[in-house]
Amino acid sequence: MTNIDINKFQRKIAITGGAGFIGSNLLLYMVPKYNQYLFINIDRLTYAGNLSNLKTIENSPNYRFEKIDIGDFNALKLCFEKYHLDGVIHLAAESHVDRSIIGPAEFIQTNIVGTFNLLELARKRHEETDNFRFHHVSTDEVFGSLGESGHFKENSPYNPSSPYSASKASSDHLVNAYHKTYGLDVVTTNCSNNYGPYQFPEKLIPLMIRNACAALPLPVYGDGGHIRDWLHVEDHCRALDLVFHAGKTGQTYNIGGHNEIRNIELVKMICGILDDILGGGPRENLITFVKDRPGHDRRYAISASYIANELGWQPQYSFNDGLRKTIIWYIENKKWLENCINGEYLKYYAMNYSNR
Ligand code: NAD
Ligand code: DAU
Repeated sequence: MTNIDINKFQRKIAITGGAGFIGSNLLLYMVPKYNQYLFINIDRLTYAGNLSNLKTIENSPNYRFEKIDIGDFNALKLCFEKYHLDGVIHLAAESHVDRSIIGPAEFIQTNIVGTFNLLELARKRHEETDNFRFHHVSTDEVFGSLGESGHFKENSPYNPSSPYSASKASSDHLVNAYHKTYGLDVVTTNCSNNYGPYQFPEKLIPLMIRNACAALPLPVYGDGGHIRDWLHVEDHCRALDLVFHAGKTGQTYNIGGHNEIRNIELVKMICGILDDILGGGPRENLITFVKDRPGHDRRYAISASYIANELGWQPQYSFNDGLRKTIIWYIENKKWLENCINGEYLKYYAMNYSNR
């Protein structure tokens, strides 16, 4: 890897968690779009981090990768100093609710302590430079569960249910406190369930696609009546770009795709699309109702009218088109899915990065 003159870049922006699902999609979108910026992908490469997602940009002159655990303050400090960062878009997190129920400790460490470390270093950069911005990427799960009606708004009360959502809620409060106390320029986005390419197959949509293609049971939790509000990851990335550049300091923005659907209906849709594309089936016969997730939130739904009115953002994908395109992507990238499960992607780092 060649040395770079960081001064030639207009901005030096760290994207934490850039090897994960949303982070990869964001880098694939931002790196070619903003060649006047330098992007530094800070990622620890947990089971969910996958550098091979970034093959098309890994040699771009405005992209760098730093293998760092955000829990490691000293390593982060060196990175902030090395690149003279003037922005962070913070996505690194333990992100799976079921894992947080089985083992919450990692969630506290990464999502709370890791965010705190970044904020401390951001505070220092804020004292040194005028235009440092911290963009915190969070979730609608901080608001807890909705009843039959209503939507989450920016001022909805926090009421998290799982160790994951409680850890994200804590990090949101820390970010807000650094704005109020130290004047740090922050923006926070709370978004609903994302779907699209490169999502680790522990999450509902890629898990169901993988199992349905392999004629394995499709485990639906509880009665399957839980509702999620789905957002295509590319629509999310466009929103993140807008908020990072034009969001009001100290403000939170809710981002959602206006696609509420019950889990059971979604699983049936996936089966129908797969039957249509691949033949065979009906794959619906594979649906198996299993024990419910403890503390399972019944319904999420986002009101995205604030970001629409303030920043002119609207989702572009219809759910039917987005889901079909996503299913085709996973069919065409079957090996990607299997390699996730086998942990093969950690070897990609060893082969391509560790000697740079
Ligand atoms: P993901 O699990 O796919 O990726 C997380 C990334 O963070 C991985 O690359 C992992 O290696 C990295 N990481 C984890 N711990 C780390 C640590 N200690 N130090 C450095 N890197 C670390 O997650 P995702 O689905 O892409 O979510 C990204 C962010 O968006 C998270 O903050 C999540 O809370 C938030 N979010 C996700 C969704 C969703 O539907 N996926 C919805 C709302 C909000
Ligand atoms: O709402 C935003 C959140 O969406 C993000 O903050 C999280 O990082 C992300 O993981 C996601 O959380 P969910 O718990 O909603 O996603 P998951 O894909 O795990 O589950 C979606 C729904 O499907 C949920 O109601 C549980 C159910 N489910 C999930 C799995 C994995 C099943 O019925 N069966 C399954 O096997």
